[in-house]
Amino acid sequence: MLVFAKIKSVKQKISSLKKETSVGFVPTMGALHEGHLSLIKHAKSENDYVAVSIFVNPTQFDKKEDLVNYPKTMDSDLEMLKSVGCDLVFIPSAAEIYANNIQSQLFKFDGLEHQMEGKHRKGHFDGVGTIVKKLFEIVTPTKSYFGEKDFQQLQIIKKMVELYQVPVQIIGCDIYREKDGLAMSSRNVRLTKEHRKVAPFIYKTIKEAKNKFGTKNASDIMQWVEQEFEKQPLLELEYFEIASEKTLETIGIKQPGEKYRAFIAVLAGEIRLIDNISL
Ligand code: PAJ
Repeated sequence: MLVFAKIKSVKQKISSLKKETSVGFVPTMGALHEGHLSLIKHAKSENDYVAVSIFVNPTQFDKKEDLVNYPKTMDSDLEMLKSVGCDLVFIPSAAEIYANNIQSQLFKFDGLEHQMEGKHRKGHFDGVGTIVKKLFEIVTPTKSYFGEKDFQQLQIIKKMVELYQVPVQIIGCDIYREKDGLAMSSRNVRLTKEHRKVAPFIYKTIKEAKNKFGTKNASDIMQWVEQEFEKQPLLELEYFEIASEKTLETIGIKQPGEKYRAFIAVLAGEIRLIDNISL
């Protein structure tokens, strides 16, 4: 497994591959877990060569303390990447990516950026768009893999690729969960014991919301979810939304043929957790 910190080294290696070599790419912020590995295994199964980036991207953090406290586990990350047969890891510094201008490009993603996470994390998707676009320019992958765990991010990346005509295919991957249902996240290790214990309540609730979706209307389900969280003092509901998968707009009247998804963000103490489920 090659480990590079410089853009030039990555570009050189990728351009030395035979023209017909397919390159699968998985961008990450490290603190890797089985969820990340499931994306890499998916990439492995569909490509000749697999590249992963580890970069805690400063421009996508709206809260400085979240950036500072983001878990860093480089040694175990590299071990995990080796174990799944990753071919190349790109671990740039912020200076390598941004030089001395740590700033986002401003994007419009056809309104996708104004929904849910966009309302609660100002500038987040400009930061994500900026880094992913730069990484695509460096790695020039054939296909790139993103988790449905961050469904809005996945849709935004698909939109960016369409709007900027980036020649890469975006592949969405299933959410990987702990045995108790909690969606895996690098932030889970920062939960207190008490918060970790109650956190599976999030998935349990959206699963029940899914069951209700056939028979109840969306506003009744939203109200029910709010009431459920009132009974759970350790978890604070930030938002629960039922929205179109395509536009991410809150459901109005159910449209035949339209796919919907339930989205949730919850504060467990200091830690913000998100999850979603197709309906
Ligand atoms: P990060 O949170 O490290 O996630 C990297 C990729 O792993 C994302 O596509 C994310 O959706 C996916 N992922 C995380 N947890 C998952 C789970 N439990 N199941 C399936 N997939 C999961 O998302 C980012 O980093 C950054 O925003 C990034 C795209 C790298 C840009 O900086």
